[in-house]
Amino acid sequence: MSLNIYNIVQYYHFLISEFLTEDGIAVDCTCGNGNDSLFLCNAMKGKGFLYAFDIQEEAIRKTHELLEKSCEFNNFSVIHDSHVNVDRYITEKVQLAVFNLGYLPESKSGISTNPQTTIYALEKMLERLKLKGYILIAAYTGHDKGLERNALFGYLEKLDDRLFKVVNHRIININNYPPELFIIQKMHETN
Ligand SMILES: C[S@@+](CC[C@H](N)C(=O)[O-])C[C@H]1O[C@@H](n2cnc3c(N)ncnc32)[C@H](O)[C@@H]1O
Repeated sequence: MSLNIYNIVQYYHFLISEFLTEDGIAVDCTCGNGNDSLFLCNAMKGKGFLYAFDIQEEAIRKTHELLEKSCEFNNFSVIHDSHVNVDRYITEKVQLAVFNLGYLPESKSGISTNPQTTIYALEKMLERLKLKGYILIAAYTGHDKGLERNALFGYLEKLDDRLFKVVNHRIININNYPPELFIIQKMHETN
C-alpha cells in the first residue's frame, strides 16, 4: 500500500505499527467509531491490552460492535467514561496512547473534545507513560478555528525537553484547515 502523507490517520497508523510493542498497554483516549481501537487491537496480536475511552454512548456501542466483529482478539476493554479518569481504570504503565480529537464523525450529538479536559487527560497520560513510550495526538483546526490545537501547542512546547520530546507533523501547503499530528515520547522518568 502506498501511504498518503497528507492523510493524518493513515500516517499515525503507520507510526503505530512501528512504535507499538505487541505486549504493551495501549490506550485509545477517544475511541469514537472504533477505527483506531481496531487498528491497535489487531496490531497487538492478542498479547498486550487495549483500553478505549469515550464519553458518548454511541461511540462506546460502535467501538464495541466493531471490535467484536472485526478484531481477531479479545484483549480489550471499552470504557464509557471521560479520558480525564484514565487513572481510575489503568494502573499499569502505558506504552502507547492515541487522542484523535474533535467530533465523532457522522454524529449529530455535537459533542467534541475540549482544550481543558484534553490537556488535563494528557497530563495524566504523560505521568502514566512508560519510558520511551509514545502519545500520538491528531488535532483538527476547522471546527473550532484552531482553539484546541493552539492550546495544545502552547502546552506541549513548554514540556521539559529532558523528560519528553515533542514533534509536530503538519501539512504546510494546504490552507483549508489541515489537521496536525503531535508525537510525544517520554525520555526520562517523571517520578
Ligand atoms: C474524532 S472522534 C474519534 C475518532 C475515533 N478515534 C475513531 O477511530 O473513529 C473524537 C471522539 O472524542 C470523544 N470525546 C470527547 N470528549 C471526550 C472525553 N472527555 N473523554 C473521552 N472521549 C471524548 C467524542 O465523543 C468523539 O467520539
